[in-house]
Amino acid sequence: NKGCKLVGCGSAVPSLSVSNDDLAKIVDTSDEWISVRTGIRNRRVISGKENLRNLAVEAAKKALKMANVEPDDLDLILLCTSTPEDIFGDAPKVQRELGCTKSQLAHDITAACSGFVLGLFSASCYIKGGGFRNVLVIGADVMSRFVDWTNRGTCILFGDAAGAVVLQACDAEEDGLLSFDLHSDGEGARHLGAPINDNENGSVLEFPPNRSSYACVQMNGKEVFRFAVRCVPQSIESALEKAGLTTSNIDWLLLHQANQRIIDAVATCLEFPPEKVISNLANYGNTSAASIPLALDEAVRSGKVKPGHAIAAAGFGAGLTWGSAVIRW
Ligand code: ACO
Repeated sequence: NKGCKLVGCGSAVPSLSVSNDDLAKIVDTSDEWISVRTGIRNRRVISGKENLRNLAVEAAKKALKMANVEPDDLDLILLCTSTPEDIFGDAPKVQRELGCTKSQLAHDITAACSGFVLGLFSASCYIKGGGFRNVLVIGADVMSRFVDWTNRGTCILFGDAAGAVVLQACDAEEDGLLSFDLHSDGEGARHLGAPINDNENGSVLEFPPNRSSYACVQMNGKEVFRFAVRCVPQSIESALEKAGLTTSNIDWLLLHQANQRIIDAVATCLEFPPEKVISNLANYGNTSAASIPLALDEAVRSGKVKPGHAIAAAGFGAGLTWGSAVIRW
């Protein structure tokens, strides 16, 4: 197989909608502050029996239906998440809940908000180099479990969601994953993370070690902002060059939905007109690894993204990690 095409997408969000005004009741903030600085107005947050896994399964089922692919036709499930229900990974449980019976491979990918782009790249390697035929890539995160709901600097930014795509082996002429550009920088990790608690301050473990827990999301917003507007345009340019394309050949710019000011700055830098920029951040906030497939699914189902359209997508976030993909829908 020389190609791999996108044949379906789907998404799922929790039922509970939390507005900026709702947040202003629990932290010292306002709708105006949040919407002017971030573009976010609402986010969805898990409640009741909702969890990462059932969002992932719901998104996956919709993508499989659009693709007309049965769970047992899948050769691989990649679950891109940094907020699993189980630290050993959730992909095999998603596989079971989808009703797959063939013990095909399923594993997690951890790369924060870049996870979905890395998932696409992994799927393309499995298909183009490994003989896999049908691959499900899910991006899902429930950041609401890992933010400090008393910290107005972070809790206003995030929402929970899942998005999924199905990729299928095809001839080279039909290839839908045209190029990638992928990076990470552990030096920048200090600007964004949720580290294990006893790693802080270089504390020394004694035997037997205490059970570990993780800190809530810690972020230097200004540094993350600077990193994104510096690295993402370069990465997209490099992916476009590898695909032999320029901005003018691209129908849609689809960035990880972190902040409208980041999206606008990257679009301006690359000279993408606003009408070619996909954004649904106002409704969902930053949904980490879910944001790109969630926005893609909405854009496909609303008829914005049409068969044959070229999309420049980029993820960026904790790690630090960042990466771009040029996709043909
Ligand atoms: N409501 C009201 N005031 C607030 C809020 C809030 N929610 N949050 C912070 N403030 C206050 C601060 O306390 C500060 O007050 P001070 O001047 O009295 O000290 C003032 O507003 C300015 O705060 P800054 O943090 O400097 O605000 P900034 O303009 O940098 O905006 C923001 C903050 C929106 C977080 C911005 O830096 C940003 O979006 N950065 C990118 C972050 C991002 O995208 N992170 C996600 C990465 S994805 C991932 O991988 C998990």
